[in-house]
Amino acid sequence: MSDPTNDIYDPAFVADLFDRCSSSYRRWSAISSFGFIALWRRQCVARLDAPQDAQPVVVDLMAGTGEVWPYLLRRFPKLDRVTALDISHRMHLEAVDRLHGPYATKITHIEADALKTDLPANYADLLVSTFGLKTFNADQQAVLARQIARILKPGGSFALIEASDPKGWALRPIYRIYLDKMLPMVERYFLRGANDFSMIGTYTRNFGNSTQTCQTRPTDALL
Ligand SMILES: C[S@@+](CC[C@H](N)C(=O)[O-])C[C@H]1O[C@@H](n2cnc3c(N)ncnc32)[C@H](O)[C@@H]1O
Repeated sequence: MSDPTNDIYDPAFVADLFDRCSSSYRRWSAISSFGFIALWRRQCVARLDAPQDAQPVVVDLMAGTGEVWPYLLRRFPKLDRVTALDISHRMHLEAVDRLHGPYATKITHIEADALKTDLPANYADLLVSTFGLKTFNADQQAVLARQIARILKPGGSFALIEASDPKGWALRPIYRIYLDKMLPMVERYFLRGANDFSMIGTYTRNFGNSTQTCQTRPTDALL
């Protein structure tokens, strides 16, 4: 489970961090990614296989403010429900604030730690998670992978997307300067000295890429 000597991976620390970010999260993620984040969320949903059930149950892990739901609802207009799981109370509140019309009845909110969730086994036809992996260390990513395998129905489909640290990419130095230097400066200036969104630099650097999550074997035990 989480490494107690490295508390940026303590779920309580992460929940507090996102509680503090919640009110600006939507705008900040759009601006800091130059709008690309919307495209990436749509691409993630597009990677899901067509479900066997005409009215699929979808789980959104680390759902945040629900930014991926419009893409899910557009692609699967008959979906039965989206179960949105997030550990941050305030991210849920922001999401609820924004829900409207028929949309709202489709979303079930669960405030819980994805590593420990007791969502039933074989619950979901589809599972998605957008930008929710980097705040897990390697051991936690293995637990998460096991949770995903447990929650999905046999034959279910999942898609995960995360910002990585593109080692070997020619433009990586510029990318790192942007994440490690420019974003913290902009955040300090516009958000009155805050240093919360800037954690993305540390988290992406430590995360590396999705290899760890992908390599988890179905036989690895749930912690
Ligand atoms: C970067 S946000 C991504 C939100 C949203 N999926 C999006 O596309 O913008 C990461 C989210 O993961 C949630 N999170 C982090 N650790 C978690 C955990 N252990 N269990 C559940 N949610 C967690 C945070 O509260 C936060 O809302």
